Amino acid sequence: MATELQTNGGGVTLGAMDVVLKIWRSDAETGERSLERYEVTVGEEATLLDCLDVVKDKVDGTLAYRKSCRMMICGSCGMRLDGRAVLACKERMKPYVDRGHVPVVSPMGNLPVVRDLVVDMGPFWSKIRAVKPWLDTGYQEHPEGEFRHSQQAMNPIHKESLCIMCGCCVSECNSMEADPEFLGPAALAKGFRFVGDPRDRGKIERLEALNEEHGIWDCTRCYFCNERCPKGVDPRDAIAKLGAESIEAGIDRDMGAKHAKWFVRSAETTGWLRETELVPKTQGLAEAIRQTKFAVSLAKRGKVPLPFPPHVAKDVREARMLRELVRSQGRTGAAGHIQGERALSRIEHVLHDDPEKAPASRIAPEKARG
Ligand code: SF4
Ligand code: SF4
Ligand code: FES
Repeated sequence: MATELQTNGGGVTLGAMDVVLKIWRSDAETGERSLERYEVTVGEEATLLDCLDVVKDKVDGTLAYRKSCRMMICGSCGMRLDGRAVLACKERMKPYVDRGHVPVVSPMGNLPVVRDLVVDMGPFWSKIRAVKPWLDTGYQEHPEGEFRHSQQAMNPIHKESLCIMCGCCVSECNSMEADPEFLGPAALAKGFRFVGDPRDRGKIERLEALNEEHGIWDCTRCYFCNERCPKGVDPRDAIAKLGAESIEAGIDRDMGAKHAKWFVRSAETTGWLRETELVPKTQGLAEAIRQTKFAVSLAKRGKVPLPFPPHVAKDVREARMLRELVRSQGRTGAAGHIQGERALSRIEHVLHDDPEKAPASRIAPEKARG
């Protein structure tokens, strides 16, 4: 380990390290599959992609993987490292070497494998196309030549606009694993990118489509997509914003929307989620009657509280005041989530900077010029 010295392009001397990798090799045509071990010597700053390049150049030229920009822009190099979807050009290997750990590299999940680390992105692109990822301005040519919008007006879709279509979120999506027809985190984040765009005229039509089967309410809220997105798009948050916008627009026919509405209503009236009323409120009276036998057997075993009289939390007034505060601030639809995000980013600035010295634009970025 670290036996050689190498220089980078700028003449800076770097240590070298030996990286050991195990890579899943496979061929969809022949069905062959094997886990192969490779050892390469690279600079200490090497990423997973650098290591794969050395394997391909010096050890085995048949290794297949995708790459282009090498700097986290193009989204080509998504793959799994020890079971987590990563961009190979972002993941440095030194921590693995320091721990003496041999990581396993495999193709992304939820997409068909073509060969080695290359997956078929066809299903990914068809979902993206399904959400009509283009601006519907309602005109061919703007009468005044151009639309001008402030930064504030575009801030709500800032995060969603950062997507580089790498597919890392899709790779980790639990819901897509169970239902390959689910639109999935990347397409839904793209959906909000246009629903939230003040220039778009197709908002209601878009929301209606996203509320169909395999749409926003099929997300299991596992948050793996937020955890694995290398660009901070936070697709799960985008899905939550789409849900909030749908309810705001009166599109609440799905059980998921009814569940969300009952959750809020229940919390504001009693301070608790009244679970026994959840089935009739979300699935309807007929379904509740069908489930009576099951509910009685749960009640007999003390698994559900009796619905009457409803249990009211001691400090329910606080829950009601919180709800009233949110209402009075006009945090309806996606705005509630966006304000929350911006509040968190401000807390982050205050934690990392001296607020006395930080420019106002960093403490309140939405007030910055431009
Ligand atoms: S939060 Fe939803 S969209 Fe994201 S990975 Fe989980 S199931 Fe998929
Ligand atoms: S949302 Fe993130 S993880 Fe998903 S495709 Fe876009 S950049 Fe990649
Ligand atoms: S090679 Fe472009 S994102 Fe990794």
